[in-house]
Amino acid sequence: MTLHFAPEQGTTREFRSLKDQRKSFGMSQHSIMDELVFFVNGRKVREQNADPETMLLPYLRRTLRLTGTKYGCGGGGCGACTVMISKYNALEKKIIHFSVNACLTPLCMLYGAAVTTVEGIGSTRTRIHPVQERIAKAHGSQCGFCTPGMVMSMYTLLRNNPTPSTAQLQQSLAGNLCRCTGYRPIVDAFRTFCTASICCQQGGPGTSCLLGKAEQDGSSTETMDGDQDVCSQLFKADDFLPLDDTQELIFPPELMLMEEKLEKRTLVFRGERVMWIVPANLVELLEMKSQYPKAPLLVGNTNIGPNMKFKGAFHPVMIHPANVSELNSVQFTDEGLRLGAACSLSHMKDVLVKAIAEIATEKTEIFQALVKQLCVLGGEQIRNMASLGGNIVSGSPTSDLNPILAATNCILELVSRERRRVIHLDENFFVGFGKTALMPEEVLLSILIPYSRKWQLVSAFRQASRRENAFSIVNSGMQVVFKDETRVIAELRMFFGGVGPTTVCAKRCCKELINRSWDEDLLSQACELLLEEISLPNSAPGGSVEFRRTLTISFFYKFYLQVWQRLQQLLSKEDLFAADIPERHRSATSPLLVELPRGLQKFQPVSWDQLQGDPVGQPVAHLSAIKHTTGEAIYCDDIPSQEGELFLALVTSSRAHAKIVSIDAVEALKLPGVVDIITVQDVPGKNKVNMPFDMEEIFCMSEVTCVGHIICGIVANNQVCAKMAAAAVKIIYEDLEPLILTLEDAIQHKSFFGRRKLENGNVDAAFEKVDQQLEGQIHIGGQEHFYMETHNVLVIPKGEDGEIEIICSIQHPKNAQTVVADVLGIPFNRVTVRVKRIGGAFGGKVAKASKIAAIAAVAAHKTGCSVRCVLERGEDMLISGGRHPFLGRYKVGYMTDGRIIAVELTCYCNGGNDLDATLEILEQALLNMDSGYYIPHLHLTGFACKTNLPSNTAFRAFGQPQAIAITESWITDVASKCNLSAEKVREINLYRGKESCTLCKTIFDSRNQLRCWNECLESASYHNRKIAVEEFNKLNRWKKRGISVVPLKKTVGFSIPCLNQAGALLQVYVDGSVLLTHGGTEMGQGLHTKILQIASHELKIPMSAIHLNETSTGTVPNTSPTAASFSTDLNGMAVKAACQTLLQRLEPFMHDNPKGTWKDWVKEAFMNKVSLSTTGFFKGEDLSVDWEKGEGNGASYFIFGASCSEVEIDCLTGDHKNIRTDIIIDAGSSINPAVDIGQIEGAFSQGLGLFTMEELKYSPKGVLYTRGPSQYKIPAVCDIPEQLNVSLLSGSKNPKAIYSSKGVGESAVLAGCSVLYAIKDAITAARRETGLTGNFTLNSPSTPEQIRMACVDQFTKMVPVSAPESTPWAINV
Ligand SMILES: Cc1cc2nc3c(=O)[nH]c(=O)nc-3n(C[C@H](O)[C@H](O)[C@H](O)COP(=O)(O)OP(=O)(O)OC[C@H]3O[C@@H](n4cnc5c(N)ncnc54)[C@H](O)[C@@H]3O)c2cc1C
Ligand code: FES
Ligand code: FES
Repeated sequence: MTLHFAPEQGTTREFRSLKDQRKSFGMSQHSIMDELVFFVNGRKVREQNADPETMLLPYLRRTLRLTGTKYGCGGGGCGACTVMISKYNALEKKIIHFSVNACLTPLCMLYGAAVTTVEGIGSTRTRIHPVQERIAKAHGSQCGFCTPGMVMSMYTLLRNNPTPSTAQLQQSLAGNLCRCTGYRPIVDAFRTFCTASICCQQGGPGTSCLLGKAEQDGSSTETMDGDQDVCSQLFKADDFLPLDDTQELIFPPELMLMEEKLEKRTLVFRGERVMWIVPANLVELLEMKSQYPKAPLLVGNTNIGPNMKFKGAFHPVMIHPANVSELNSVQFTDEGLRLGAACSLSHMKDVLVKAIAEIATEKTEIFQALVKQLCVLGGEQIRNMASLGGNIVSGSPTSDLNPILAATNCILELVSRERRRVIHLDENFFVGFGKTALMPEEVLLSILIPYSRKWQLVSAFRQASRRENAFSIVNSGMQVVFKDETRVIAELRMFFGGVGPTTVCAKRCCKELINRSWDEDLLSQACELLLEEISLPNSAPGGSVEFRRTLTISFFYKFYLQVWQRLQQLLSKEDLFAADIPERHRSATSPLLVELPRGLQKFQPVSWDQLQGDPVGQPVAHLSAIKHTTGEAIYCDDIPSQEGELFLALVTSSRAHAKIVSIDAVEALKLPGVVDIITVQDVPGKNKVNMPFDMEEIFCMSEVTCVGHIICGIVANNQVCAKMAAAAVKIIYEDLEPLILTLEDAIQHKSFFGRRKLENGNVDAAFEKVDQQLEGQIHIGGQEHFYMETHNVLVIPKGEDGEIEIICSIQHPKNAQTVVADVLGIPFNRVTVRVKRIGGAFGGKVAKASKIAAIAAVAAHKTGCSVRCVLERGEDMLISGGRHPFLGRYKVGYMTDGRIIAVELTCYCNGGNDLDATLEILEQALLNMDSGYYIPHLHLTGFACKTNLPSNTAFRAFGQPQAIAITESWITDVASKCNLSAEKVREINLYRGKESCTLCKTIFDSRNQLRCWNECLESASYHNRKIAVEEFNKLNRWKKRGISVVPLKKTVGFSIPCLNQAGALLQVYVDGSVLLTHGGTEMGQGLHTKILQIASHELKIPMSAIHLNETSTGTVPNTSPTAASFSTDLNGMAVKAACQTLLQRLEPFMHDNPKGTWKDWVKEAFMNKVSLSTTGFFKGEDLSVDWEKGEGNGASYFIFGASCSEVEIDCLTGDHKNIRTDIIIDAGSSINPAVDIGQIEGAFSQGLGLFTMEELKYSPKGVLYTRGPSQYKIPAVCDIPEQLNVSLLSGSKNPKAIYSSKGVGESAVLAGCSVLYAIKDAITAARRETGLTGNFTLNSPSTPEQIRMACVDQFTKMVPVSAPESTPWAINV
């Protein structure tokens, strides 16, 4: 490999100079530069050098040091950066408040605006705002990284409406993602501001709400169902601060004056590369546009911004038409509604909703179709920024508005300096991907949306991978006009999005159907014509070709039914002439509406004789919750820059398997601000180190084995320079064979890291005796961690004795310490790793974070400077791997009564290019492959596959969710073959009794498993609801419901013996205050909260007297990773030991002064020279499995549980809605029920995502397409079951863990499986409609595509199957 990095002597290439740019764009007359004036949190900001390329988010975080607003994705998709913008409208004398994504808001857009961030509404130093208080106290914050965004969305809603409806609340949260909580507690907290009454909806018709009065006001009742042993009060709404809007920041009067008094004038802001012009009026705008025809008209920046950030688009001049009133006008004319093109989509929606309420229904068909799409287009923040004109002119093929506007012949008014023209938005308007018929110098001034008339019917359809805040996969706008008083078509217009590079018109189909009657013949002909006309090659970008084609005709069928139903209202019976539509087909036209989640949380109250003030067993709020809500909680990237700090950007491979021929960094190093390149040659120690599961290379040496493989890094003065330079490094590759990406590839090439097997009984002999046998397989897709805080690290060289400090977002500080030390070639004692808190991790920050820390440490070592590295979301997703995809192939022997006698199963997991934790994950999958079932004869084999993907790694529940999903696949197959319900087969085969035997032949007590199962069936009213589901399915052809209950059994504990140890350090100061630390890290799971509860209980002092400042390798050495739901068990015991040692030392003083206080005893001990610093150590069990013999103990104990889910699917689109889930978990004696229930709900939500929606897509060359929230959908608030009930099993004890508790953090990921199988149940009902009764495979995730294509019907059968030899756009790895 050749390396070229030396910059040419004496050359310092500048970016193309501003003078040159001006020359080419004729900008000479705009020589003045304006001062940008705006307010932030009531303080005036005067920015002399406003750079048009700077977004508000980095400005807040870096320039103003307001770090409460977080970076989660940078593309408007996650809501972590939500802030409120207020503007004064001088014409209407009105202040408007709206939420925006600061990451997409250019700084220059803020002229005259007031920005409010989370720091501006409340703080622990002054007063906490009720929004902040409620989300914190209602346990709506775990890692806290999404919390400021949630707070600001809610705050903005309340500023506009102090008593919002729940529907408004739902809309305002649609653009905010949370990866930790499962949303229910956030919704519960914010619902306390809403008008609608709260009802758990479980009282049944005519009966009162089970939650009683206390729940009505937002809290919960003490007891339920007369059961004094169960409690459901996680927070007390009565104590909440009232909302008092007189306390809010006022809009700055100076800005009002500015808006009212000053004549509008042209503003110009200029950065190094870009000029931003704000024309004073329309004439000037047109003048500018003719002068700079290539300059975009930046309105909301929701299209331009992502294109610049992610696709490298560059615009030297940008025109922002904020002062052009014509672009914002709203006018009702005789023909319809004329909207200025810059009207925001939120404003448009409000105007349309009002018009629909006020105008005759027949005139508002088009308005209604638009509102239907607008309600789910983006999130609220996007709709507040994005403009109608921008949506049209962006020409996106998945625009949700264009198909309707085109189908209904909307009229566009285009103006330029030379002329004004009016055109129809039709098939001629879209000329290519992102291109329209607009001339470069033209501006879209307004859009006329016509009123509909009596015989005109309009509908809109869309199907996305998530119901809200997701681009459509396919959408459509359809309009039919009938000849008066007939069902004969006079005009038909249908446009589709998502089926080509532009919005596509089904012109020929529409033409051929003119003069046809609206009847069944028309339906089949229309479908055939549509399929002929709208065709997609197998390799079409976006993939899912058959699904997309099926959607086009399924949408038409929905339209057909809708129109038919309307004709029934419009025409007399005689005029209809055709057979009626069967009643059971009608629900096909109704959308699957979802409501905000609500539910019950049941847990055991503490014993009546527990000491007052003892927090153990109490639902104590997360220690940092209030600080999360105010933005005061410090995460790694919130730490201020160090003197001379450099930023590190990584250079990664663009090939999946190739030899590196050369690395050429010459051009990159010439860029201004760039300091150096960091390569393997700079590593002073070892490049291959223990990571911690296996030896891995830090920098790739010569052969890249995945796209995203780290090759080298660039350090520069700031992030922008470093990223630019990293992109400029030229790497020449020579592709290598073979390219192994999928599990099938790995099997074919026998590319395995290793193999594991477990055997019980005699499978071969058992197969001889069984009644029946079946075979099947299931594929479980991978999953991205999507922690809200991406990987980041700050390395500070101390300049003395080789000491180095690493501040890092990592679950395993010890590993970062040892890896950095090995890479630098220094002893471990020179490296201190510190972790204050992590913004979510879920296993993804155990191993990978060490590698990034090591590279940053090499950079710091080479440059002598502090080095920071923060991965962008796309980089993080590309590099860091995730949950392993699994393939399970099975053969099952069973009796016709449902007893399963023998299972032979082979599973494969896709480990990627490095081993990482793949073997351990495979082992856990095998150990849990029995799930909750006793199968006498089992033969399990697992292969850890080595492929050319970034290595997959630890992820919450470590292979066990995949195992249970495979198991439930053969369970449902057996049930179907035996003609029994799946729940019956499950029940028959459940483990029972005190002396059950694990797969590796150890004894365990499974009685709580059966208790959970029975209690779940009962509390979920499973049997009654199953009957109701069947009834529903009889009455509905195209909507089906499904219900499923699954047992859960999960191992807890590390099966690597040396990891089962922990340490703690307790220091008491003379004032009695206690500083505590231990080996675990806080990543939102409430570990530190539980630890303080333990210390408080032991020392019998309030939690407030104890402080836990951080986790550091300098205080507690040689720690285990914070993982496996085991950290309270380990560290809690170590803390307990430390406390007990201290108490022993204090004992003499307590004895001498029994009436004394804690402070007295501490002081006395000090005066008597007794050490007030103690350590605690816990030596856990020796857990291990002998894989040769298939024997041993892989678990400290089991978590048992059961989960019951009900869903409804739309058989025509593949959409589904989660109606209800009931989860019961055996958490032992919970140390903190609020934390445990929060973990259960959050884990369930991740399981729901894993099994139903999160889909990673790779190109056939191994490139990950899904690199951000726009492409990869984690559950949003709309995905959580409308009813989510969680109970902790009462009366459970666990002698293995502290205070008889259990580590529940991971277990409920498995519960998501009940949703997958409820969906399968619903699909089974749909397939029965077409006579399909046999087994079928439902792979995970059950995306709309999976569901739709499994609901085989006349429409799916019409779509030709893609030729197998053609290359698909994406592959299933
Ligand atoms: C996270 C996210 C989610 C989204 N979800 C959806 C979705 O579900 N459905 C959907 O349809 N869209 C969605 N969008 C796209 C969004 O609706 C469009 O980006 C938006 O409408 C564009 O408007 P804008 O004002 O932000 O345009 P800008 O980004 O400011 O401009 C876009 C383009 O339009 C041109 N332009 C703007 N106004 C005019 C005008 N008056 N005359 C001439 N040219 C003009 C500009 O020159 C530029 O080329 C989403 C976007 C994001 C970021
Ligand atoms: S960081 Fe702005 S929306 Fe994600
Ligand atoms: S608390 Fe919402 S992402 Fe962690």
